Amino acid sequence: MKVLVVGSGGREHTLVWKISQSPKVDKIYAAPGNAGLEQDAESVPIKANDIDGLLEFAKEKKIDLTIVGPEVPLVDGIADRFIAEGQRLFGFSELGARLEGSKVWAKGFMKKYGIPTGDFSVFYDSSMAMDFLENNSPPYVIKADGLAAGKGVIICHDGEQARVAVNKIMGKKDFGEAGNRIVIEEFLEGQEISIMAVFDGKDYRLFLPSQDHKRAYDGDKGPNTGGMGAYAPVPIYTEMLQERVIKEIIEPTFNGIKREGIKGAGLIYFGIINTVDGPKVLEYNCRFGDPETQVVLPLFKGDLFEVLFEATNGNLSSVNFQNSSGTAVCVVLASGGYPASYNKGYEIKGIDRAVEAGCIVFHAGTAMENDKIITSGGRVLGVTAVAPTLQESLKKAYKGVDMISFTDSFSRRDIAEKGV
Ligand code: GLY
Repeated sequence: MKVLVVGSGGREHTLVWKISQSPKVDKIYAAPGNAGLEQDAESVPIKANDIDGLLEFAKEKKIDLTIVGPEVPLVDGIADRFIAEGQRLFGFSELGARLEGSKVWAKGFMKKYGIPTGDFSVFYDSSMAMDFLENNSPPYVIKADGLAAGKGVIICHDGEQARVAVNKIMGKKDFGEAGNRIVIEEFLEGQEISIMAVFDGKDYRLFLPSQDHKRAYDGDKGPNTGGMGAYAPVPIYTEMLQERVIKEIIEPTFNGIKREGIKGAGLIYFGIINTVDGPKVLEYNCRFGDPETQVVLPLFKGDLFEVLFEATNGNLSSVNFQNSSGTAVCVVLASGGYPASYNKGYEIKGIDRAVEAGCIVFHAGTAMENDKIITSGGRVLGVTAVAPTLQESLKKAYKGVDMISFTDSFSRRDIAEKGV
């Protein structure tokens, strides 16, 4: 079988790494890929949002399964285009991807299907939003409706911050059309848990729960990032909590998806917060999480290719879907300055040593130049360790992190501490 993985980050390297372990897979392409995944896949210079280019490539190479990493092509309808042209693809249709692509739609969906989430109001113009802020009390979470590269959710602890956020999204249009509508939501407190589920149109299977670290610095300080590290499983996600999440969130979500007429196979990521009033949904994503995938897939014991392929046949019940009993920790090494501006092009040293020490080093923002691996993005590497206990995974991951160096590199030093 020939597989095309769309995307270029740490998540896509992990998908390639896991899929390459399937005895059914002969060849993997990644578009556009990165320097690390080339051990297992051939990178092709087609951008992840170039749907025409990807479709042409899939037809020419007779790809058996295309797997989409990032949200933008899904929201832009890549699944609808591929399926209309007889190409097999794992990923939600444009309608399904609205769960991530429109915060307004997702909140309406949760309300319609009785799925617990924070109280919210939707605004179509900034003066109404400003009036709301005058008459209510902070803290607020202000969300641009559309995709904003992970920057469209702003937590505001006072009224002034909230007014600045509304003006940034709706007045200055910092996120373009994505800011035509906003959601102002109550601020919820609690630990966050990421749950990823494969859906085949009827049935679903759950990967292990994981926890992301969204803020840039230790102690959950600093700006929001794409994610600075993750661990799995999550000890606070007890069997009792899992039962509630399945009953109150996961089952009603999949029932809602079916009732809305969302067809096909895809991955739903539930961003859940465990509040004093019980678990609530913070957000849905329509794709694998990054860096959650880097800890969840090393703990998955089945054949990922088979799972995703059979999901596209509506046949998940035929596959062996088993998670291991171990633990995993992923620490992201980032470029100094990330998530704001940073320099690129620094040589990365020590990856081999970290691999020899037993880590799996997933590449994200890397490139090759004169046979050297150099930095080419904000999140550069995800150093992942697997071990029987979280303490052991954590120690092993940081041992690997300490062996890798590049100019201006930084990482959080407290990944998985909450879990330990
Ligand atoms: N780590 C959060 C996300 O993938 O959106």
